[in-house]
Amino acid sequence: MSKRRHSGSPDLRGKPAKRLETDAGTSANDHAPVLLSYPSTSSQQQSTRAVPFQQPTCLLTFSYTPQRIMEFGDSALRYYIDPPPGADLRYGYERWIKRPEERARLDTLLKAIERVLHISDTNMGPGSGKKWLRDIALVTWRGVMTKILTAPYEERDSCVLNAMLVDGTLYLEEHLTDARLAEKEDLPTRQRQQTYYGYAFESWCTSSRPGVPERIHGHPTGWGGDVDTNVQWCSVVKTKLGDSRLVIGGEVDCVREHFNGQPDNFVELKTSMSIRNAQDEARFEKKLLKFYVQSFLLGVPEIVVGFRTPAGRITTTQSFKTIQIPRLVRGKPHAWDPQICLRWGQEFLASLKARLSEQASSAQTGPSPTYSSRVWRVTLTPGLGVSVYPLDEEGVKEVQGGEDRVGFLPSWYFEQVAEPAEDGSVPGQGTSGSCDGTTDPT
Ligand code: A3P
Ligand code: MG
Repeated sequence: MSKRRHSGSPDLRGKPAKRLETDAGTSANDHAPVLLSYPSTSSQQQSTRAVPFQQPTCLLTFSYTPQRIMEFGDSALRYYIDPPPGADLRYGYERWIKRPEERARLDTLLKAIERVLHISDTNMGPGSGKKWLRDIALVTWRGVMTKILTAPYEERDSCVLNAMLVDGTLYLEEHLTDARLAEKEDLPTRQRQQTYYGYAFESWCTSSRPGVPERIHGHPTGWGGDVDTNVQWCSVVKTKLGDSRLVIGGEVDCVREHFNGQPDNFVELKTSMSIRNAQDEARFEKKLLKFYVQSFLLGVPEIVVGFRTPAGRITTTQSFKTIQIPRLVRGKPHAWDPQICLRWGQEFLASLKARLSEQASSAQTGPSPTYSSRVWRVTLTPGLGVSVYPLDEEGVKEVQGGEDRVGFLPSWYFEQVAEPAEDGSVPGQGTSGSCDGTTDPT
């Protein structure tokens, strides 16, 4: 918490950003002004006004099969079960089926939204789905929203996003360059093993049936099955931050006992190094910010943490109630305050939307009819703030990646939701395509 923070005016347009090497392997535009600086994270300066955050409700769930096909339904749903004592997180490493790193597209989340629109049109009359969507301020993955909300406290990693504003709704995807994807694919062995620990914990803690440890021939009792990171169960929720309605999708690790259609029984699983001293404890409590934000965004009420040895053996597990986590860190030197994150999130959304709509309305009267296909690069830099600039043709091409897209949105989606231009044509040039399941529901 000793890091320099920028406080003060929420709108500092014109202040030049330094050249920034980002963790996406790109550099931010040299001249992109800082749109918004982070708030101070020191607790004395905070106002007491709480930012309302509505309890998320589940719109629908979907699963990814081992073939990475997205299907509506709960084929990938798993049930929580206590792991066996001393569970070994190295178990099955050599059999891990690792999903290849890919661009973090919104496609399957958009497929889910398309379904919600269709259901709405069927039940409430044609056009009611689009009317509902027009009221949604933001559509994104939970992982993106977590990075945005925790940015005031982030000390290491930049977050690079692509943004589009279509018919009043903001869409955000994480921007990953080919270089960054290759880097993620080619992790050093040690890091790869550590990443596996998290997935192995998920296998030890889940079963295909509620309350019954998995028994698979040839494996120790309680092993939930060899890890295949293609398989995921996802929830799409709607919620509200301040005045902004959000639709967020993300992976849910498992449920306790049964799934009742809402997040009430969702469980998030996490691993962390065992705590041996005060320094470890402080480190863990700082990490709780991400656990907390990640979970509450989807309405996940419980987080089970498996504490492990450096060699990957579980020593203890502890269940945390998500809403009680902020209380655990309050008043400590390394404390974080969720209200700072929420207020920041609200400001971020308002400023970004204002910036993008300003441009949209001026472009509308200009020569280009494709204003809503404009793509923006949004960079959140630790200790500095957010910069935003519109991509040039080259940049948009890179984002499209040679696929049938308008910006980063698949054409089949864009054509459904973009407002027709004056002459009745839809801005953008793509033809209908199909959803191929390239997403990263984190
Ligand atoms: P842990 O969080 O227990 O380390 P999630 O908890 O978000 O569902 O993610 C499950 C696991 O995926 C993580 O387990 C970790 O092993 C891996 N993982 C998630 N995000 C990661 C990241 N940014 N870098 C490396 N591994 C990650
Ligand atoms: Mg998890």
